[in-house]
Amino acid sequence: MDKLAVDGGQPVREKPFPRRTPFGTEEIKQVTEAIESQNLFALPGNKVKRFEEDFANKYGMEYAIASTSGTSAIHLAVAAINPEPGSEIIAAPVTDYGTVAGLIYQGCVPVFADWTPGAFNMDPGQIERNITGKTAAIIVVHLFGNPCDMDAIMKIGRKHKLPVIEDCCQAYCTPYKGKWVGTIGDIGCFSMQQSKHLTAGEGGVTITNNADYAMRMGLFKDKGWESRGRWGPRAYAFLGLNYRMNELTGAVALAQLQKVENVVAQRHTLGELITGRIKDIKGITPAPVTPGGWHSYWLYPFTITGFPAERFVEALKAEGIPANWGYTGKPIYLCTEGLKKKRTFGSSGYPFDSPYYGKKIEYEEGLCPVAEKELSRVTTLELNEDWTTADAEDAAAAIRKVAENLK
Ligand SMILES: Cc1ncc(COP(=O)(O)O)c(C=O)c1O
Repeated sequence: MDKLAVDGGQPVREKPFPRRTPFGTEEIKQVTEAIESQNLFALPGNKVKRFEEDFANKYGMEYAIASTSGTSAIHLAVAAINPEPGSEIIAAPVTDYGTVAGLIYQGCVPVFADWTPGAFNMDPGQIERNITGKTAAIIVVHLFGNPCDMDAIMKIGRKHKLPVIEDCCQAYCTPYKGKWVGTIGDIGCFSMQQSKHLTAGEGGVTITNNADYAMRMGLFKDKGWESRGRWGPRAYAFLGLNYRMNELTGAVALAQLQKVENVVAQRHTLGELITGRIKDIKGITPAPVTPGGWHSYWLYPFTITGFPAERFVEALKAEGIPANWGYTGKPIYLCTEGLKKKRTFGSSGYPFDSPYYGKKIEYEEGLCPVAEKELSRVTTLELNEDWTTADAEDAAAAIRKVAENLK
């Protein structure tokens, strides 16, 4: 058996893995056009407008509303639904804070539904168990690029007349039973932050077929400015923010839209190859894929059992593999003081302690035991579309080498 690199052996991989290079001549052309137009403001411009039209068309949806981040894209969705302050919104326990920040700003309280064991995604049964008379919506997260169990979740949403918001920040062009995630629920939300399948460094987009939601989102991202474009006394329909995308971001996003399906297809190929190579290794569980779903591998997640995860990842890194352990480390409710200690507005703790809510909620260890336990064993490979299949083979070979040595 080859000696582990961490113990002084030859590493599986000495050459660095390909760095992601998402931008090229197409982005330069689009950005140059935007700059040459001498206007970077979306309203009179055409880049953001075209991006919204093309995104909606690609997704076969009526409306796409561009904004500044995934966080804003989700905030738009919550503002569109316009929940009463003190409402509860059911959310995923393992995610970025951007999934829940907007709903807290809208005066709502996140309630976390635990994972299905082994799935790294929300359990529909746990979602239903957490529905109360105060529930206003469900936000699902297709974590790592693996679709949630959308049939079951939509059934629950419809049964309880609750809108379903899909956080697709990690799951572009990701089919579930013939439909891309983001088109199954009532609203789909995407991030264009640097690491995402489609990136402009920062940015966001929200899609829907609901005209009323789309109207509210368009206003919300522009301070609620109803009379925009007309001179005279201004009219602001309701409280909103400035989440407008600018033309430079729109230009990059437009070019990226042409590439995103290839990006996702390559990541899928790499991820499936790794699964095929590691599925027989004792103590290794490859990335789960939801029945009826197709994984777009924003990251490649796998579980290790029987070895200390930290030691496994240390050995894998010494083999030259870009791997990390534990993803966010803890569920989001244990990571953020905005939830754990309710540090929100001044010393108030609003909305958690507001009379609108009128209940008590604590975010503490044990809230989602499956997610808490499984997260500590999740290892992720930072694959990207610039990897070749030979790179994926090296990653898989290193996982095998480490597992066999440590066993
Ligand atoms: C699942 C998920 N939701 C929301 C967000 C927030 O996106 P952004 O960082 O663009 O605000 C991210 C990004 O990290 C994410 O991965």
